[in-house]
Formats: sequence, structure tokens, C-alpha cells
Amino acid sequence: MTTAKPDIYSPDLYIAGPPHELFTELRRIRPVFWQDMPGEPGYWAVLKHADVEYVSQHPELFSAESGGVVLEDMEESRLAALRGTLLAMDPPRHRAYRKPLVKSFTAKVVGGMEGRIREICREIFARLPEDGAVEFVHDVTSSLPTQVIGELMGLPPEDWNHLHRLAERTTSQQDPEVGGTEGDGYGPGAAAREMVGYAIGFAAKRRAEEPREDLTSLILESEFGGKMMTDADFGSFFMQLVTAGNDTTKTMLAAGLHALLTHPEQLAAVRADPSLVPGAVEEVLRWANPLHYFRRTATQDVELRGVRIKAGDKVAMYYTSANRDEEVFEDAQSFDIFRRPNPHLSFGFAEHFCLGVHIARLEGRVFFEELLATFPRIELTGEPRRVRSNLNNALASLPAYLGR
Ligand code: HEM
Repeated sequence: MTTAKPDIYSPDLYIAGPPHELFTELRRIRPVFWQDMPGEPGYWAVLKHADVEYVSQHPELFSAESGGVVLEDMEESRLAALRGTLLAMDPPRHRAYRKPLVKSFTAKVVGGMEGRIREICREIFARLPEDGAVEFVHDVTSSLPTQVIGELMGLPPEDWNHLHRLAERTTSQQDPEVGGTEGDGYGPGAAAREMVGYAIGFAAKRRAEEPREDLTSLILESEFGGKMMTDADFGSFFMQLVTAGNDTTKTMLAAGLHALLTHPEQLAAVRADPSLVPGAVEEVLRWANPLHYFRRTATQDVELRGVRIKAGDKVAMYYTSANRDEEVFEDAQSFDIFRRPNPHLSFGFAEHFCLGVHIARLEGRVFFEELLATFPRIELTGEPRRVRSNLNNALASLPAYLGR
């Protein structure tokens, strides 16, 4: 082992970038790896591509509902709220809640949003300063997913920025600069509670109006497992849609530009032939996957690669490691927009496979098509700063020059 006692839980380990060398070594010698945690039981880190698929495919053995999807055990009240989201439901309830939504997220329905997404990208670029110096994460990438989810849900535009900020705080609790602190009123869970409160008020207002052609009306009008949603149910559901659709997509856009700028020959290839953009987006998703892991909890004793996992143990599916598994990807550590096939696991797999996958891919493709067409000159002007997190593989800032 290169490191005597590796600690893949520590958020500090990820500040300089994901520990790919360590993951490579662990995949070889301890692919199902026990990791301790401070102040609570540790977890099994599942590092091989095939094993992440196996865990995802067996919700009856590995539950999302019993302990939630992040490593830190939660107080019962927070866990109860989380269980109102698709992400933390097990079948059969999960299927009953997911089914009514699927028709709004198909490739065909989402494809109808392309024109609007292109317009939003152009509006964002038109608002940028003429001199071309930007902080790419906040000045450029964050508005797109916020507006797309805002329009999809029919949210009032004046609330979009605030909701975006709450989403960012909710998912970045390990980085006080991004997530907030008790001192500024954003201790653990505060942003999520505020968002749920907002959603409950929003649902009450919308119930008093005529239904519209948007996701909010669809959710409020549909039956989930034979029942309509209460405002509190809607609150949890809303929180997940707004956070899931926001930060991950923003991360993909910023990481994508960074990857292309640090591989100039591939950037030049995409510029010369925009039909390469979809392949580039997939490779960005594999190489710089926005989420490092999601957690499950074993429902019974089970053996994985010869390791005995006990009922109640935490199990983390490491997408960051699975996406570089040399048994699946040739030259796995290299960024290669020409990689085909590219069976990365960045959107998860099976039961909980990302519902917003077509939206995310469309946003990625249209954003890069428009960005490269609008700015013939794009350069890095400093070092990016990464979010301190063992969950979000995200850039907090990316200084760049965009020249028209
Ligand atoms: C690059 C962007 C995105 C990434 C990397 C991403 C990643 C993921 C992952 C890893 C999962 C969990 C899979 C699992 O547990 O097996 C997931 C689930 C989910 N995502 Fe995404 N996501 C993205 C964008 C979006 C967008 C834009 C939306 C909505 C507008 C969305 C909505 C959801 C929902 C609702 C779920 C829960 C599905 C379920 O549990 O059945 N995601 N996503």
C-alpha cells in the first residue's frame, strides 16, 4: 500500500482532486474495503464497476431507505424527510412513486426542451462582461440548471437564485465556505429545511390555482401508490428535484470546461467538429463524475468478493472508482472524448438510475455547442478551487477568460 492507513472518508483527501492512485491500488488488493468513520460505524467501500452494478441491482439486499444515501447516519426526523424522496425509497414504494414521473423525463419529452435550453445559454452568455474575465462556476454554469429546473417546475423566476443557493448549501455541508455555518444561519440541515418550507408554501399556492403544463401540476395531480401527495410529501420531493437537478449539472459543465482546457488537442477536435460534443460530455461524466458515491445499507448478511457484509452495515458505491476500473475501461485514467463504448456509472444504475439523465445530457450538449460557438478564445486564468467534500466531486471556482 502506498498509504499505511488510507482514509477515503476524509473530505480533506479530495481537496487536491480524487485519490485515483489510491483507488487503483485498493481495487487491486481490497476491492471491498472497510473504512472507519469518526464517531459512528464505518462502511464498506465498493470499488469495482461490476460490484457497484451488483449493489445497485439488488435493492432487496442493499436498501436506500433504511439508512439513507449518505455515509453519515442521520437523526430520525431528517431521515424521515429524506425517505420522502425517490432516492431514499425502496421498492415497491419506489416504483409506485417513480412511475407517474417517468413520462415527463423521457428522451422524447426532454428533447422538446432543446430550443429553450439553447435560448437560456445564449441569454447567459449575452449577460457576461465584455472584457471576458469570469469566474466560470458562478458567472456561467450555475444559471443554466437553475433556470431549466425553475421552468420545468413552474417556479417564479425571482426565486430561482435563492433556491439555487439553498441547493448548493444543502449539498455542500462539508465545505463551510459553500455550505454555510451556524453563524450565518445555515447550520446542518437548515438550507434543506428552508427549501422544504418554501415548497410547502408553493404547493399550497399552486393548489389554489388552475393546473398548468408543468411538473408541479403533474406531481400535485398524480396519485403515488394510490394516494395524492400531501404538501409535506411534496416538500421532500421538491427538495430532491431541485437539488438533484442543480449542483450535479453545474458540476458537469464546469468540470467539462476544465477537462477540455487541460486537453487542448481534444478541445480543438471538438471545436473543429461539434458532432463530437455528445461523446465529450459522456467522457466528462466518466472522468469527472459529479458524485463520488451513494450509500446503501445491507438488509441481511451477504458476501461480496469474498467479504462478509453483515445486516445493517453501510455500503458505499464508489462511482469515482468504478469509472476508472481497468477491467472495463482501456487506459482508464486518460481523458478521451473518443472512448466508445463508455459505460460509466455517473448516473447510477438500475433501480435508482438518474431520472434526469436526458435533461443533464441535453444541457451538457447544448451548453458546450453554444459556448464553443460563442467564444473562439477560452483560457484558464488561474487554478480552480475544489469543494471540500467526500461526496461532491465539484469545482468551487474556475477562473477563465472568454473571448468573443
Ligand atoms: C450531470 C448531472 C447529474 C448527475 C451526475 C446525476 C446523478 C445521479 C445519480 C448518481 C443518481 C442516483 C442513482 C442511484 O442511486 O443508483 C441520481 C438519481 C436521481 N436524479 Fe440525477 N443526476 C444528474 C442530473 C439530474 C437532473 C438534471 C435531474 C432532474 C431534473 C435529476 C434527478 C434525479 C432524480 C429524481 C433521481 C432519483 C431517481 C430515483 O431514485 O429513482 N438528476 N442522479
